[in-house]
Amino acid sequence: MQVKSVITIRPQRIKDAADFYRIITEGHFPFFPTNIKSIEAEKRFLRRSRQMWKDRSAFNFTVTLSGKVIGAVGLIPEHDRPYNVEIGYFIDRAMHGKGYALQAALQAELFAKVFWPELRRLQAVIVVDNAPSIRVIEKAGYKREGCLQSYLRCGNDFHDAYMYGKIVR
Ligand SMILES: CC(C)(COP(=O)(O)OP(=O)(O)OC[C@H]1O[C@@H](n2cnc3c(N)ncnc32)[C@H](O)[C@@H]1OP(=O)(O)O)[C@@H](O)C(=O)NCCC(=O)NCCS
Repeated sequence: MQVKSVITIRPQRIKDAADFYRIITEGHFPFFPTNIKSIEAEKRFLRRSRQMWKDRSAFNFTVTLSGKVIGAVGLIPEHDRPYNVEIGYFIDRAMHGKGYALQAALQAELFAKVFWPELRRLQAVIVVDNAPSIRVIEKAGYKREGCLQSYLRCGNDFHDAYMYGKIVR
């Protein structure tokens, strides 16, 4: 794969709210559950997110390209099993297919390896029809481990989802 540009990840900021709201509402992502209904609601989410960063219950990053917000990637350690960390991501629809989600997943993994010493296993739960996300996670080296029936709710629909895992150490 040709790499034309390299993205950066950084902790999310409240001022990212309008960009996230636009990316999520214009994106109409069918398999990415979210119930953010306004920029104000997005700001509230980002405030909670900042608190979660402080108490180390989640690490949510903004993905930027040349300083412009183009998406997000997040890491959530399981509460009772902090050695398992779930990853999730989205990228602005206008920027799809350029390898940015793969870069974001790999940069988040590097962060977790360095700053989350408990980490043993990264995992992702992906709707079985979400072909681009499946491609990203497999390119990032995760293995499909099974299918969770009717596991993910997106709007009013419940979808089967694959569990992916990558043993890091
Ligand atoms: C999943 C998502 C983040 C991928 O972002 P992206 O920046 O386009 O990802 P990348 O460019 O790194 O890789 C996408 C890969 O999927 C492939 N792809 C795209 N559409 C595809 C399809 N319908 N079928 C199969 N592969 C597909 C691309 O060709 C690319 O693979 P390649 O690099 O081998 O050509 C993006 O589609 C998105 O934001 N989706 C909505 C949110 C979401 O579903 N997040 C995942 C929740 S688990």
